[in-house]
This record gives sequence, structure tokens and C-alpha cells, in this order.
Amino acid sequence: MRIHHKTHILGKISVDTFLKKYWQKKPILIRNAIKNFKSPINEKDLFEIIQNEGVISRLIAYKKGMWQVKHGPFKKSDLFKKLHMPWTVLVQNVNHHLPFAESFLNLFKFIPYARLDDLMVSFATKKGSVGPHFDSYDVFLFQALGEREWKISAQKEFSLDKKSAIKIISNFECKNSWVLKPGDMLYLPPNVGHWGISQSDNCLTYSVGFRAPSVFDIQSKFLDFIQDNLITNKNDLYKDPNLSKQKNPAEITSNMIKKIRQTANQLRWNTSLLNTFTGQFLTEPIESAIFHPPKTMKLEIFKKNLLIKSLKLNPKTRMLFIKTNFYINGECIKSDKKYALYLKQLASNRKISLNSNLNKADLSALGVILLPLYLSGFADFIQ
Ligand code: SIN
Ligand code: CO
Repeated sequence: MRIHHKTHILGKISVDTFLKKYWQKKPILIRNAIKNFKSPINEKDLFEIIQNEGVISRLIAYKKGMWQVKHGPFKKSDLFKKLHMPWTVLVQNVNHHLPFAESFLNLFKFIPYARLDDLMVSFATKKGSVGPHFDSYDVFLFQALGEREWKISAQKEFSLDKKSAIKIISNFECKNSWVLKPGDMLYLPPNVGHWGISQSDNCLTYSVGFRAPSVFDIQSKFLDFIQDNLITNKNDLYKDPNLSKQKNPAEITSNMIKKIRQTANQLRWNTSLLNTFTGQFLTEPIESAIFHPPKTMKLEIFKKNLLIKSLKLNPKTRMLFIKTNFYINGECIKSDKKYALYLKQLASNRKISLNSNLNKADLSALGVILLPLYLSGFADFIQ
């Protein structure tokens, strides 16, 4: 099944209404978000990829009164058919591994890429579940195959099950429940208690997750960044030419504290530094993302390829921009403002095809800008 990237996935609700009334505010169920949906991803695809190192997956089952978890990669021989209990396998970042999963994310372009985390796919047998829990993510739970009952709660306070290997709410109170069929979708803001229970032996759910960096993470990474970019002269010293005799030499006086406060307050950052931090921070790739640089390629050959092929971002690549400054996988891209239109196209469509009539000077300049992305494995040619 091919999905047109312009498909509207919010049913009768417009993007504006969704953002105003529901996004980060309250859950909404959308029946038939995609009509007649047939999942091109199936359990076999999942079982194939979870055998690879670098694919993050978990097997969850409820056994002997406890929620149990096993982490992948899994061997073919420990596939789960033998389990005599309901189970779920969850596979993270499926958009990095299966092209359909990557294209499915295009349906959510109404949320900035900077917020996008991944497409997780779960497969569950009848009654399979990962238990009642809450996430720190905004998530669209799209039913791809089979049926799943979703229960949600309106609680603000949760108690957690201490003996469980995964985060389970022990005092879950169901406020609403629905059975989702293929093509239906449930949106949940962060911290809404939810509990999905498979109603069929072939339950496939796509979770499109949107990350929100923690305030702590933003602040501590910013402090690191500021430290790395300090412009203070290392030879400048603390000075006290007006020192007067203290009663107790061990005391840190208010005068000293004042000087330290003044020094701390001298820390400044301008917009340009803040933007660089933001661009680098928000394009930092996930920890498990490994980029494999290709064999080297000379600029002249690269330019020829640019004219006959499309250059596509690696599915693991994060590329964003602020005005005419571009960031990729935690780095700044060196480019002239003149070429911003091309780079915006690459960042938003995640691929670029150059017109074969492009003049020599522009082709050369674009070659110089794009070649390092290719040589780092951040982008590759497709026909
Ligand atoms: C699932 O797909 O089974 C769980 C997804 C979630 O609750 O976030
Ligand atoms: Co969840």
C-alpha cells in the first residue's frame, strides 16, 4: 500500500483545530484516519529486523503475576511462537529500517521535525499488552492490523508497581475505552495513563512518538555548550585590591560573594550562539545511530552524480534549519545564504534532485556544500 504524502490523517478535524484543541492538551480518537488501510509491514518484517544489532526491541509478557521484559536483538531460534502466554514485541525506530515506515512519518508533517522521535511498531498476540503505563511523549497510536482495545485514564497521580521490570501503573482507573480497527488512530498527550490490550492474534500498532527534551537536559547541555564556547580570557583573575581585615579568615564575606555573582552574571550569549546550540542540540542523532561513510568520491564525480540522481538523507539523519543556517546530526553545515533554498528543500523533503540545466558555478558550490554530507554517510544517492 502506498500512501500519498498529502493524505490528511486527522479525519474530520483540521490541523489548526487539532493543534489548538488537542495537541499537548487532551486525547482524541480518530476513526478511519486512513480508510481501507492495509499494513505493508507485517510480523515477519519485524522478526527479520529484530535479529540485527543496533535495532532496539523488547519482548513483554505477563507471567506468574509479573510483567517481564527481554531485550533484543533476538535470535531466530528464540522466536516467540513457543510462548504459551500472550506477548508483545516492540520495535523502536522502524523508520530507520523499513522504507514504508519512513514514508508513513510524512503524514505527520504538521508537527515540526524537531519534535519527531520515531515510529515504533508493536506486534501482539491475543490479550498481549505492555500493561497500564504513561509516557513522557506525545504519541499517535495507529492501528495497522488486527484489533486493540485502548483504555485511558484521567488520573493525575499514579502509583507504580514496584516489583515490575517495566513501568506499570498499579492504581490505573479507566475513564474511557475503545476498540481500534485497522486505520483508526488515538492521539495521547504526555502523561496520560493508557493500556492497550490486543483483541486478535495479529495485532500490529504503529506508535508515532514526539519527543520533548527535558528542561534539565536543555539546561545542562546548554551549560556544556557555553563552557565549550567561553570567550573569557583565561588569564583574567579574581581581584581584591580593597581588601580589609576580616574578623575570621575562614569566612567567605558578602563582598566575595558579590564578586563571584558579578563574574557569574558576566556569562552572556548572543542570538547567534543560542541558535547554534539549538540547531546542534535538536539534530543530535539517537545514540544507536551509526553512519557508515561510503568509499571516498572526488568532487567532480560527486557533481556528475548530483545531476543524474537524487541525494537522499539517511533515515537516521536529522537535518533542521534556522533562517539560512543549517544543522545536520549535531553539526553546522557550511554554506552560503545563496544556496539556502536548495538546503531547505533537502531538509524538508529529505531528498534533493537538481535540475540538469543548473549553471556550472552553482553546481560547483552545491557540490562543495553537499559532498561532506555524503562522505559522512548522512546522505546517499538514489536513482
Ligand atoms: C503497544 O503498542 O503495545 C504499546 C504502545 C504504547 O503504549 O505506547
Ligand atoms: Co505507551
